[in-house]
Amino acid sequence: MYQVIARKYRPQNFSELIGQEHVQKTLTNAIESNRLAHGYIFSGQRGTGKTTVARILARCINCFSGPTASPCGKCSSCIEISAGNSVDVIEIDAASNRGINEMREIRENVRYRPARDRYKVFIIDEAHQITKEAFNALLKTLEEPPEWVVFILCTTEAYEIPNTIASRCQHFSFRSVDFAELMTRIKSIAQQEGIEASEDVLSVIAQAGEGSVRDSLSALDQAIACCGKTLGVEDIRALLGMFGTESLRAVAEAVHTQDTSRMLDIVQELEHKGQSLQHFSRELSRYWRNLLVAKITGKPSGLIQVSEQEQQDLLKTANLFSEEDLTRYLNLTLELYKALQTSLQPRLHLELGLIKLVQAGRIQAIEQALAELETTESGPSPSPVASGSMLTASTRTAAPRPPPFHAPQKPAAPVNQVENGDLRQVLYGALRHAGMNTTADALHSSEVQLQGNELVIKAPKVMTLALREGAVQRIASEAFGKPVRVRVEGCENAPSVESLPPENAKTEDEVRERALSHPGVKRFQELFPGAQVRTVRNLNE
Ligand SMILES: Nc1ncnc2c1ncn2[C@@H]1O[C@H](COP(=O)(O)OP(=O)(O)OP(=O)(O)O)[C@@H](O)[C@H]1O
Ligand SMILES: [Mg+2]
Ligand SMILES: [Zn+2]
Repeated sequence: MYQVIARKYRPQNFSELIGQEHVQKTLTNAIESNRLAHGYIFSGQRGTGKTTVARILARCINCFSGPTASPCGKCSSCIEISAGNSVDVIEIDAASNRGINEMREIRENVRYRPARDRYKVFIIDEAHQITKEAFNALLKTLEEPPEWVVFILCTTEAYEIPNTIASRCQHFSFRSVDFAELMTRIKSIAQQEGIEASEDVLSVIAQAGEGSVRDSLSALDQAIACCGKTLGVEDIRALLGMFGTESLRAVAEAVHTQDTSRMLDIVQELEHKGQSLQHFSRELSRYWRNLLVAKITGKPSGLIQVSEQEQQDLLKTANLFSEEDLTRYLNLTLELYKALQTSLQPRLHLELGLIKLVQAGRIQAIEQALAELETTESGPSPSPVASGSMLTASTRTAAPRPPPFHAPQKPAAPVNQVENGDLRQVLYGALRHAGMNTTADALHSSEVQLQGNELVIKAPKVMTLALREGAVQRIASEAFGKPVRVRVEGCENAPSVESLPPENAKTEDEVRERALSHPGVKRFQELFPGAQVRTVRNLNE
């Protein structure tokens, strides 16, 4: 009769076990130093070696040449334990024997010495299934165990073991097994079975188990049953309902190239091949997760459970995106996966979800545009500072990031057309336009006169600092359409001038026009055709 691979290759001693090094080490020490506990809890993911280790431990302590961490495997005790028919090693499946009567029976049984071996070992599988009353009956035994008794409770749900029991046992958590170790194990078993399988095939089989050795070995069984001695990667994928990384990578590429119609094609292909869309969304989440990890670590990593070649591919693809992007895509895909769990229209949901990914990619463009904006804004300083360094400091604090100077939209008024009274107003407007608000505000209490080519600004002494001649000169020249020289005169008392009308007295149209001509705004309109500017607000007010 055919024996399934998982059972045929059940490790018979610690050296054959993969993963679970912490369990091996601690138990080996305990055996060698003769410090065995009477109760053990083995918990952890299914198919990771709990029952296997329980049996190995039983052999270790009952082997004729023991107690030893490496049982002989030849004595009748070793042989019987492997075959599961040793009288002193009792395996109980709590899934079907969970009641108080069974536990009372155990309690009775415990009182008698082992028939032949050193210890009576009770291996209770699925221990979380034991009822509360039954646990209580068991507790009595664990409180005062006879010297010859060892209990091993195996469970996938450690938290369902009552504290009263757990506190009397040594607890080991079994971890899901690393991809690399699984690969090695599967490869060696395939060789022993005379099966031909490429790395890709082995990788698919190892992944199918999601860290459970038994599940991976079952997948191998299935593969052999279906394909015989030569396993082809596509067949195995189809058999195990796994997705080629191609379709996952296709999604990433479509996100990268912003190709929504490609997304629709991908869904179409999946449907065509009759693949589960839910499953696809789960695989896609895992794919984004792997890309994110690849992006963060920047090199092949044990955190990603795929083959070396796939690691390289992941790294390449990850470089198309930023960490933030990948996080966003992962999030969206997880949401999509959740939605698909209950969806009556999975196809619709998947299409929508994938299109959303592309749209989310456009946010990247916003980020980029903002970053570009930042660089233009902090770019060339609007004006060389004419005088002392104190001045520089004070104006910098007042306006930390002066926007660049842009020529006013309206053609500059030739100076002879500017009436003297308007000079101040025009200059004021131009200065504000250039973002030099402190300078502009100084004009509120200043007198401005044009004498030939010289623009004389009479300002209260305290204000003169703000009126940087060089900068004002440049802006005044542009505003008046001809080169002027600026001279600032400090007076003791403020010249009696009318207060300037506030800047916002300008018509809204003008402000709007100015905002729309800003290169940052223009860039956004390029990036998002059809985008509308709805309100314009002056942040300086
Ligand atoms: N750590 C491991 N090293 C090598 N093989 C393992 C390991 N864990 C599991 N296996 C393989 O998987 C099979 C099942 O393992 P085992 O019965 O010990 O799992 P388990 O943890 O008790 O699972 P469950 O929670 O489903 O009872 C074994 O026969 C063996 O072939
Ligand atoms: Mg088990
Ligand atoms: Zn032996």
